[in-house]
Amino acid sequence: MFQVAITGTGLFTPKNVITNDALVEAFNAYATTFNAEHAEAIAAGTVAAKPMSSAEFIFKASGIEQRYVMDKTGILDPEIMHPTLRQRSDDEPSIMAEMALDACSKALANAGRSADQVDAIICAASNHERAYPAIAIEIQQLLGSGGFAFDMNVACSSATFGIQAAADMIRAGSIRSAIVVNPEICSGHLEWRDRDCHFIFGDVCTAVLLEREEDAQGAHFTIRSTRCATSFSNNIRNNNGFLRRMRPDGLKDRRDMQFMQNGRKVFKEVLPMVSSHIQTHLQEEGLEADDLRRLWLHQANKTMNDFIGKKVLGRTPKADEQPNILQDYANTSSAGSIIAFAKHQDGLTDGDVGVICSFGAGYSVGSVIVERKS
Ligand code: COA
Repeated sequence: MFQVAITGTGLFTPKNVITNDALVEAFNAYATTFNAEHAEAIAAGTVAAKPMSSAEFIFKASGIEQRYVMDKTGILDPEIMHPTLRQRSDDEPSIMAEMALDACSKALANAGRSADQVDAIICAASNHERAYPAIAIEIQQLLGSGGFAFDMNVACSSATFGIQAAADMIRAGSIRSAIVVNPEICSGHLEWRDRDCHFIFGDVCTAVLLEREEDAQGAHFTIRSTRCATSFSNNIRNNNGFLRRMRPDGLKDRRDMQFMQNGRKVFKEVLPMVSSHIQTHLQEEGLEADDLRRLWLHQANKTMNDFIGKKVLGRTPKADEQPNILQDYANTSSAGSIIAFAKHQDGLTDGDVGVICSFGAGYSVGSVIVERKS
């Protein structure tokens, strides 16, 4: 068995920012037009009026201040209300592969390694741009790495589940190194016309390079252990899929073909699941809460993260013990905990232990206990 280490991280951030104020202005313009156009039906009680959104509510309910997106012109146009991403030809790189190439290149540079030293690529994300060939194989070709590549999807937990899969292969010796990359175009599966969730998501891509520890070129994090768990729930669901066109109403604009959630139930049910998952993982690793120097949590909601941090540590975490990036990036699905991990490694010294944890649809929860080695 080989000891596995995370030796590099990479982050691709789209250039377009949408603040809460800009988002709310577009939504309210859309809702106002909708209400005017349906005034009679609304008065007759056959159509529900669209209520207005508010930037104050968004910040208070979620902690989100802005989000990055691949396209903002379509999202902010009250006549469109979704990203307008040009359909690319089969001869062009797909959008996810392009984002991934940037993040993977940065992860390799961060680790002081080159693409030909990568044995496997796992493209782990909530949605994939096409069914096949795998986006991961396209990334492999663009990057110029060898070995093999495949896609996987465990929604918001995709990154940690991907890290477990890659770490297990390296540990067993079938590969020496792997990149787990998470291109998340959440703007494409968010319903921007739904006030209850239009503020939740943003776009980003993260990548981590995993290698045998003996191959590490510099400071790194050894992976002490990983744990994954799932439990079926319909409370976060997206029915879009390859059978869509075969349904009698297949081409209609159906709300369930985008992200749907019962936010309050998610809040109540996922919190205990995640807290006890991390606590059990720590116990099995022989660690106490006080041994944890940092928690890099999935970034869905600030109150949720504050609750988990407090439950796991048994006290309110200090800012640098549980860093948040939610205020800048919003929820970026599987990439959230990895953005926090990539951006917040300062102050850790040799032997410091932390946990990366993601959770979400499925339900699913994955945790990775890491130890700093300088
Ligand atoms: N602007 C203004 N008001 C809004 C609003 C908006 N954009 N969205 C909802 N509201 C209103 C609601 O209509 C409701 O009004 P009511 O009390 O008159 O019915 C009120 O604000 C509270 O709405 P609710 O949806 O119950 O808010 P909440 O406090 O539960 O927060 C979430 C909403 C989504 C932020 C919260 O439930 C959450 O974070 N859940 C977990 C999300 C999550 O982690 N999902 C995982 C995805 S991977």
